[in-house]
Amino acid sequence: MAPKGFMIDFSNKCIIVTGGNRGIGYAFSRAVAQAGARVAIIYRSSKDAPDVAQKLSKEFNVDVKAYQCDVSDADGTNKTFNKIDKEMGPVTGLVANAGVSVVKPALELTTDDFNKVYNVNVLGVFNSARAAAKLWIDAKHAGSIVITSSMSSQIINQAAPNKALTQVFYNSSKGAVSNLTKGLAAEWAPYHIRVNTVSPGYVNTDQTSHMDKHIRDHQARNVPLGRFAEPHEMTGQAVLLLSDHGSYMTGGEYFVDGGQLVW
Ligand SMILES: NC(=O)c1ccc[n+]([C@@H]2O[C@H](COP(=O)([O-])OP(=O)(O)OC[C@H]3O[C@@H](n4cnc5c(N)ncnc54)[C@H](OP(=O)(O)O)[C@@H]3O)[C@@H](O)[C@H]2O)c1
Repeated sequence: MAPKGFMIDFSNKCIIVTGGNRGIGYAFSRAVAQAGARVAIIYRSSKDAPDVAQKLSKEFNVDVKAYQCDVSDADGTNKTFNKIDKEMGPVTGLVANAGVSVVKPALELTTDDFNKVYNVNVLGVFNSARAAAKLWIDAKHAGSIVITSSMSSQIINQAAPNKALTQVFYNSSKGAVSNLTKGLAAEWAPYHIRVNTVSPGYVNTDQTSHMDKHIRDHQARNVPLGRFAEPHEMTGQAVLLLSDHGSYMTGGEYFVDGGQLVW
């Protein structure tokens, strides 16, 4: 008799998670470690990232290491991916998750603000995806890339009824990266590289905890499920896309938003 249950086993996988040391990225790192993968966490400046990696490694008895790298630097990203491939590889999957936001009225936004957001949310995702694709195309190896975009790729978030949350660079960067996903999926399908987006709704992380309580309460009230998500609630979709069960999925944007986009 065939065994019951639905198994996802990442024992032979090595997955890079950018921004994998905290927030939603940490939940992705933890989920793939739990599934048995070797995990390379990329962080920018958090001093505790190596400790986070060590704890996960102990919890699930898998190899987890932290690598410092600014994903907006293309050369540095290529070098870091090569290093990970040698030390922990072969790399089989990437979660390009690192992202930042600037909340400010449009009339006050500066070129520096634009660069801050787009250099991570769009260029950083591109640099990470290309670094992974180069590894796989050189080695004639298939791969799966999951990009963390946002439901903000489709909507303008509200701060209050009929009042915008002022973050046009953030929302437009997510629109850009959701479109970038489709372009990369189309270009790299012949190499058996799948590229998809997981687009979260409101999630309890450092990015949202600094927001005014009235704004958070309004946002939570307007989600059909009536609350913000916890980071671990984002992981099921990403694990599916990274797994062989996702073998016919590419170029998609999958919303994990508590139903927000029904309105
Ligand atoms: N929270 C939400 O409600 C929400 C909703 C929709 C989409 N998202 C998206 O989900 C992703 C994760 O969000 P989060 O809320 O978990 O963020 P977060 O808690 O603020 O964490 C951001 C992560 O990105 C890393 N990072 C930032 N810039 C980087 C760079 N240049 N190079 C490498 N790593 C960098 C940070 O590393 P350090 O720790 O070293 O700084 C950190 O690990 C983002 O793409 C975000 O836009 C979040």
